[in-house]
Amino acid sequence: MKSYHEIIETTYKEVKKTKDKGKIATYIPELGNVSSDNFGASISTIDDKTFGVGNCDEKFSIQSISKILTLTLAYKLEGEKLWERVDVEPSGNPFNSLQQLDADKGKPRNPFINAGAIVICDVLVSRLENPKEDFLKFCREVADNDTINYCEKVAQSEKETGFRNFALCNFIKSFDNIKNDVDKVLDFYFYTCSLEMSCKELSETFLYLTEDNFSTCKGNRVLSKSEAKRVNAIMLTCGFYDESGEFAFRVGLPGKSGVGGGIIAIHPNEYCIAVWSPKLNPKGNSYKGMLFLEKFTSATTSSIF
Ligand code: DON
Repeated sequence: MKSYHEIIETTYKEVKKTKDKGKIATYIPELGNVSSDNFGASISTIDDKTFGVGNCDEKFSIQSISKILTLTLAYKLEGEKLWERVDVEPSGNPFNSLQQLDADKGKPRNPFINAGAIVICDVLVSRLENPKEDFLKFCREVADNDTINYCEKVAQSEKETGFRNFALCNFIKSFDNIKNDVDKVLDFYFYTCSLEMSCKELSETFLYLTEDNFSTCKGNRVLSKSEAKRVNAIMLTCGFYDESGEFAFRVGLPGKSGVGGGIIAIHPNEYCIAVWSPKLNPKGNSYKGMLFLEKFTSATTSSIF
């Protein structure tokens, strides 16, 4: 059996040559300024080794991948009561959809669609004294990395064009499932989406979702085994919006994407893998990122199934 490193390298070369059928996200104008040629990947295994290829050290806008971090912190603070505010069912709808909220009386289907993540941000705004500063501190601790930061320009760009998110937040508030001021909640939400990390930083950070004691690189416990099971379960069923089934079918790992073109995926007993390629398929997931992960888990026969 070839090593993960060799397979990452061959898979990377193969996918790099493939024609990219995706399109870069421009609905947040600032995201359109990134070169679409970027392509990187990194794997961190539970024996604490990280190996990357291509643009694996370049920081990019992690966007909705941050929804795992907001969920993790809110779950730690709120415990099982959190599920009274947000459900754990796949939505089968686009990430920014308003459709189901009326019938569901303002309770979003899951924490990984925008509606759910906005409710999670509301929970954090209630719980944290200085939400932006405290959340950034939490991310830096989990990542064991003080260079992690927000991107002001991206946060600003989101605020200027975030009409759907304003609609979502106001609509949910009409059902009393947003407790704080809408502008305050969304300001925090836009900053969380603007976090910048590289593939290497991502694969190291999310090792806390593996059996590596559910801890940071320095060994500080982040979640219990049962909590990590639940976060992974929601990633498997909801991490790719209305393409979650397709990702499980092709890749076979819990994962989460962002419209910056990043994807992270977890093999609970073995590794965390991150990939970045900015052009997205019509469902908002990285075209080459999905292809790379499909080929990687096939070549290594390392899906969870
Ligand atoms: O709120 C938004 O639309 C973005 N800041 C995040 C969307 C996102 O990454 C969903 N992903 N595929």
